[in-house]
Amino acid sequence: MTMSRELVVEGGRSLRGHVRVPGDKSISHRALLLAARAEGTSTVRGLSDGADVVATAAAVTAMGASIDGERVTGGAGRLHAAPGTVHVGNSGTAMRLLAGFVAPFPWRTTLRGDASVDGRPMDRVAEPLRLMGATVDAAYPPLVIDGGGLHGIDYTLPVPSAQVKGAVLLAGLGATGETVVRETVPTRAHTEEMLVACGADVEVDGLVVRVRPSKLEPFTLDVLGDPSQAAFWVVAACITPGSDLRVGPVYLGRARAGFLDVLRRMGADVDVEGDVIRARYGHLVGTEVGGEEVPGLIDEIPVLAVAAAAAEGTTVFRDAGELRVKESDRIATIVGELTTLGGRAQATADGLIVVGGGIRAGIARSHGDHRIAMAMAVAGLAVPGPTRIEGWDAVATSYPSFEEDLRACVS
Ligand code: S3P
Repeated sequence: MTMSRELVVEGGRSLRGHVRVPGDKSISHRALLLAARAEGTSTVRGLSDGADVVATAAAVTAMGASIDGERVTGGAGRLHAAPGTVHVGNSGTAMRLLAGFVAPFPWRTTLRGDASVDGRPMDRVAEPLRLMGATVDAAYPPLVIDGGGLHGIDYTLPVPSAQVKGAVLLAGLGATGETVVRETVPTRAHTEEMLVACGADVEVDGLVVRVRPSKLEPFTLDVLGDPSQAAFWVVAACITPGSDLRVGPVYLGRARAGFLDVLRRMGADVDVEGDVIRARYGHLVGTEVGGEEVPGLIDEIPVLAVAAAAAEGTTVFRDAGELRVKESDRIATIVGELTTLGGRAQATADGLIVVGGGIRAGIARSHGDHRIAMAMAVAGLAVPGPTRIEGWDAVATSYPSFEEDLRACVS
């Protein structure tokens, strides 16, 4: 196997052993932002080493936090306006969370990302921050935020988005009065869980989170592995004959383990042993994925579509229009790349339909999207022969050691 701008996987060999995936990306972004705001030095172990999280680390450093290995020192007395434009690379999460992070401060901040981030809607975060009193220019990046003088709002998320919830809650830490975020559909709960852990004045009541102006205490955190990264290995083991693989430890809290429910519905042999997932090869059948479960598995749909292509019968993904505004238009890129590898898939208005019954080795492209790259690597692992994934360097945004982990578990 070679890694440069492409990866070649030799498929049809079983996956065995134990893969320890990188630290959870969503938790890592938030750990850095909260540690930068906390008064003192926090210790964060096991951060994601992907470029997305490195971008957030660089952003908080530019604003005065200091990072020395696992130690992150922050606090109101240190933070200042970033001297120039803050670059988030490929990370929409970093851009949206940083928008909320900077909004309480009386500074101008310009956030910019790569070409893919330029196409990602920012109105969803701009709108609530404007309602709180910030001036936020533009519905698409670059985003210019003039912060300060914020007041709390009572906001019902129009799009189920943990990024937007996180941004509003971070802004609420420095707004007068109470900020309330209401969800109609559960999304990942990292921001509120971590705010509780660092002593913020926050209350969580089901799908309603209330936060009041708070000073954060420094904290110690061991970041668990990323279930979204685990999903690649779990699916690879489920569809590659002879496989028996453990993956973890991973965070399996709210709205992060939905992919396991889908795989179970497909008949997969998956078990959770504490915070480790065990996956074994078996016969899969098609299923339907939609409704309230979607936000809890939206990032796993590329690899679940690969599972669907290897299954018997048809799998329908619906209520997943958000896929169109991820690192690529994932409805188009999944359908296109599965088809390239001999699968049968069709785009719909809000998702896709995958007809199972086979994929073959071939040449796939990442479209600059890490999850498409890794999903296609998984497809290649399941079938005999070499599969080449072009644009493999996209995986650096979230999983630089994917190839190393692959070598360790493929026999
Ligand atoms: C994330 C939330 C999800 C997810 C993204 C990470 C987060 O996005 O797709 O990869 O860390 O809050 P949305 O909030 O846009 O649904």
